[in-house]
Amino acid sequence: MVRETMLSPADLIWPLFVTEGEAVEEPILSLPGVSRWSVDQIVVRAAEAIDLGIPCIALFPNTQPERRSEDGEEALNPDNLMCRAIRAIKQAHGDAIGILTDVALDPYTSHGQDGLIDDAGYVLNDETVAVLVDQAINQANAGADIIAPSDMMDGRIGAIRKALEMNGHPNVQIMSYAAKYASAFYGPFRDAVGSSGLLKGNKKTYQMDPANSDEAMREVAMDIAEGADSVMVKPGLPYLDIVRRVRDQFDVPVFAYQVSGEYAMIEAAAAAGAGDRDALVLETLMAFKRAGCSGILTYHAALAARLLTA
Ligand code: PBG
Repeated sequence: MVRETMLSPADLIWPLFVTEGEAVEEPILSLPGVSRWSVDQIVVRAAEAIDLGIPCIALFPNTQPERRSEDGEEALNPDNLMCRAIRAIKQAHGDAIGILTDVALDPYTSHGQDGLIDDAGYVLNDETVAVLVDQAINQANAGADIIAPSDMMDGRIGAIRKALEMNGHPNVQIMSYAAKYASAFYGPFRDAVGSSGLLKGNKKTYQMDPANSDEAMREVAMDIAEGADSVMVKPGLPYLDIVRRVRDQFDVPVFAYQVSGEYAMIEAAAAAGAGDRDALVLETLMAFKRAGCSGILTYHAALAARLLTA
């Protein structure tokens, strides 16, 4: 009766990795319990999400090496893995499940950076925004419900919003990765999308310094002014102070991404007997809600939903 915070499957967004082939499940070694699935299997995962009361899934493609290039142009292919997955899910399940799609070039570039680079390897902001706009429209055309730019270029939210309006997608939402930090917690994700071996250097010229909090407020303010429907803080647990500041200062839904390295830490702790997996999962997810999150992206979404409805 006196509980202040509620956690339910409706708070969860389930990130899923897509790969080529049929009836394929490829376990990801650095993310024990998480696999890449072929498109037909992603449709089954979406059905599972619907049954569990999870309202939204987030898709990430593991692009075949031969389709990666310097400029990541596979991101603009209407028949790329991502678009085929979106269409298959929408065909099978319609609006019973929301689809959130990541906008950034890293699953498509031969160098693993999120954008176009100059000769010195520096990511070019404005040139990249122009491509991200086309990538977002490509995903919206395929049926994406929420466009989630994770690239951290400046000005991309306004440019994408304008393009969505002009291309017949006024109802497609934007959830901006507004406060995304240059974090050591993304390692297993880069294995999952196959970019870890390719990435030279780091992403510190566009992702945020973990030392900064005021800067996160400026990033969030810019993205809201440009038309973001909701904003995200990422990683999650080490950045709950940022979530709370955003919640207190702004009037848009704020989401957090409990990222791959956080998932791996919980799994490693459970495997080592240092903690109970189910309890760790539910406690951390409740902490996100308590900090002010409207919802959480988590690889534990299906497990948590099962535990919450048991
Ligand atoms: C790519 C992207 C990343 C994640 C989501 N989108 C990795 C990165 O920025 O290198 C990380 C998610 C995770 O670690 O679970 N732009």
